Amino acid sequence: MANFYIPQNNLIGPGCLEELSEMVASKGYKKALIVTDTFMEKTETFQRLLAVLMKAGCSWKVYNGTVPNPTVENVEEAYGLIRKDPCEFIVSLGGGSSHDCAKAVGIAATSGGCIRQYAGTGKLKAPILPLIAVNTTAGTGSEVTGFCVITDKQKQIKLAIVDPAMTSWISVNDPTTMLSKPPALTAATGMDALTHAIEAYVSTNASCVTDALALQAIRQIIKYLPQAVENGNNIEAREKMAEAQFMAGGAFSNASLGYVHAIAHQLGGIYNLPHGLCNAVLLPYVVEFNGSRMKNGRFADIASCFGRDMITRQDRFSSKFVADNIRRLNTRLGIPARLRTLNVRKEDFGIIIKHALEDACAVTNPVQAGESGIDAILKAAW
Ligand SMILES: NC(=O)c1ccc[n+]([C@@H]2O[C@H](COP(=O)([O-])OP(=O)(O)OC[C@H]3O[C@@H](n4cnc5c(N)ncnc54)[C@H](O)[C@@H]3O)[C@@H](O)[C@H]2O)c1
Ligand SMILES: [Fe+2]
Repeated sequence: MANFYIPQNNLIGPGCLEELSEMVASKGYKKALIVTDTFMEKTETFQRLLAVLMKAGCSWKVYNGTVPNPTVENVEEAYGLIRKDPCEFIVSLGGGSSHDCAKAVGIAATSGGCIRQYAGTGKLKAPILPLIAVNTTAGTGSEVTGFCVITDKQKQIKLAIVDPAMTSWISVNDPTTMLSKPPALTAATGMDALTHAIEAYVSTNASCVTDALALQAIRQIIKYLPQAVENGNNIEAREKMAEAQFMAGGAFSNASLGYVHAIAHQLGGIYNLPHGLCNAVLLPYVVEFNGSRMKNGRFADIASCFGRDMITRQDRFSSKFVADNIRRLNTRLGIPARLRTLNVRKEDFGIIIKHALEDACAVTNPVQAGESGIDAILKAAW
């Protein structure tokens, strides 16, 4: 492990949003760009954020056009607001889509050019504008990570940009802002976080620190995600999920991901499906695929998070146990079992395979499979 990146400041817990005022004021910042979406702009959380900025003595501009799976056009529109009249910092409010859009605006502001040129790993020319990421879903971990995923509608792909230079200045996970999430969103975003933790734990780039974060995240998600889905007002479950997705974000930002994300990015790009939902459906199939070829016992550790100490540490047995438990969890959360239910078309497999293998997340999958491997995963999951 050469380095371990997380944001400089990380606020977690009920009411922590209000702690931002002092931190902003202490820097003397006066002007913010808020990046959000039209739903969040109407919420009480948005009003709380404005009160925080007002108390810090700041003015602001708002970009509210972020769409789920944010696009290159979103980034250009939002950056257009500050190109000639710069802001000192950016505040993203919402889920991964708002944070990623904000990061990309921060890249445009300090590295210049078109966001497309930064797809891949380590291509930024400078750290992004200071970013406060106020997270209101509990899944992507984007408020913690040096990852940014932007949809290129022309090419129907999601560009994965990976660079620690876009890690935010302050991450905020206040579970009181997450109580309003409906069950389907809670389920999908929670399964995204579980996918982050599992992919980070089996990644070829895992380290002792990312392992510790990933395993604790898995334990908390298994216990609290069903509770958060079944009773959205359960503040304890919301808080535990906020913590868990934060830990999973810290794990995968440093260990990276694998084939679930490499494939899910393509499904998001082609069909504009919710990211967490794509991951949830693919996860058991990639677990089985990897587990049947791995020999380092990593899936036995994950199996013990699901409540069983395996008699053998052979991955091919423990991965089957883990995959079956993920399927049961998906069923309990109302998530479909197959890609065909998401209207994924078999005739698109060729392009999905090609772009999945080019995705930055494919590099650290524990088994390098090539086209036939991704094809086998897709066929099994379809
Ligand atoms: N950068 C990263 O590290 C990273 C990691 C994983 C995924 N992602 C990306 O993040 C995006 C998905 O983000 P997401 O899953 O957080 O969802 P999202 O940001 O797309 O939001 C989905 C919907 O939920 C609504 N919403 C947000 N908070 C809410 C709340 N508290 N109550 C009710 N509704 C709320 C939003 O308004 C939006 O309509 C994808 O583009 C994905 O590729 C990024
Ligand atoms: Fe994800």
